[in-house]
Amino acid sequence: MNACPRAFIVGHPVAQSRSPLIHGQWLREFGLAGSYEKIAVRPEDLAGFVRGMREAGFVGGNVTVPHKAEIMALADGVDDAARAIGAANTLWFEDGRLMAGNTDVTGFLANLDEEAPGWDRRGGNAVVLGAGGAARAVIHGLLQRGFAVDIANRTRGRGEALAAEYPSGVRAWSWDDLAQPSGAAALLVNTTSAGMEGQPPLGVDLRVLHRDALVADIVYSPLETPLLRDAGARGHRTVGGLGMLLHQAVPGFERWFGVRPSVTPQLRSLVEADVPRR
Ligand code: ATR
Repeated sequence: MNACPRAFIVGHPVAQSRSPLIHGQWLREFGLAGSYEKIAVRPEDLAGFVRGMREAGFVGGNVTVPHKAEIMALADGVDDAARAIGAANTLWFEDGRLMAGNTDVTGFLANLDEEAPGWDRRGGNAVVLGAGGAARAVIHGLLQRGFAVDIANRTRGRGEALAAEYPSGVRAWSWDDLAQPSGAAALLVNTTSAGMEGQPPLGVDLRVLHRDALVADIVYSPLETPLLRDAGARGHRTVGGLGMLLHQAVPGFERWFGVRPSVTPQLRSLVEADVPRR
C-alpha cells in the first residue's frame, strides 16, 4: 500500500458532506498516515477524474450526487448491490481493477440491527415512503431480510414503476391509501427528503400504524425529524438516519486503508455535534 493513501468524496456540490468527519476520525483513531478529501467534480469532469485517480495516489473514495449512477459506467466492475439498485457510492481497486459498489444497503440494515435488535425477527410487511434512489437501497435491504414491501409515493406512477421492477414481493400504493398497507406493517421507513432541514415535514397520519410498528427515517439532519418525534410520542420504537450514514462508511474505509473500523459512541457524538438536533 502507498505510504500515504488518499481517499475522497466526489460530488457536486460536496461541501455539505459529513463523510470527511467520519473517515478523519477513523484515520486518527488508527494513527494512519492517509487522507480523506472532499473534491467537487462537475459531471463533465467525472471521467477525467476517474482516469487520473491512480496517478494522484487515490486508493478509492465515495461518490455522491449527482454521480451515483454515472460512475458505474466508468468503473471496470460493479458489485451486486450497486447493480441491483442502479447506483454506486463507493470506489476501490481490486486486483488492479476499479470497482464501484453500493454500501447503503448494508448501512441501512446495520443501523437497524444496532438500534433495534430483533427488528426483522417476525418479518411481515414494511411500508416504504418514497420511490427515489434512497428507496431502492432500503427496499433491496428489506427484501434481503424477507419482508414484503409496500411502497407509498407522493407521485403514484413513480412508485408503481419501481414496484414493477421486482418480480414479486413489492406493491405500490397511492399516498392517500397509505392506511391500507400500514395497519399490519411491522415497520415504516421514510426515504423521502421530507422532514430534512429546510424541507417541509412529511404529512402522514401515524394513527394508521399498529402500535408495535417500528418507525425509521433515513433523514439524519435534523437528528430528530418531525416523523420520529411524532412516532416517539405515540409510543413507537424509532430509529434515526445517522447510524445509516456511519455504518455505510465502514466497508469503504476497510477497503482503502486495510482495517475495519467500528461505529463507536465517540464517533456518533462527533458527527451528532455537527448536525442540528431538531
Ligand atoms: P433520493 O435519491 O434521495 O431518494 P429523489 O430520487 O429525488 O431522491 O427522490 C425523492 C423522493 O422523495 C421521491 O419519492 C419524492 O416523491 P415524488 O416522486 O412524488 O417526487 C419524495 N418527496 C420529496 N419531497 C416530498 C414531500 N414533501 N412529500 C412527500 N414525498 C416527497
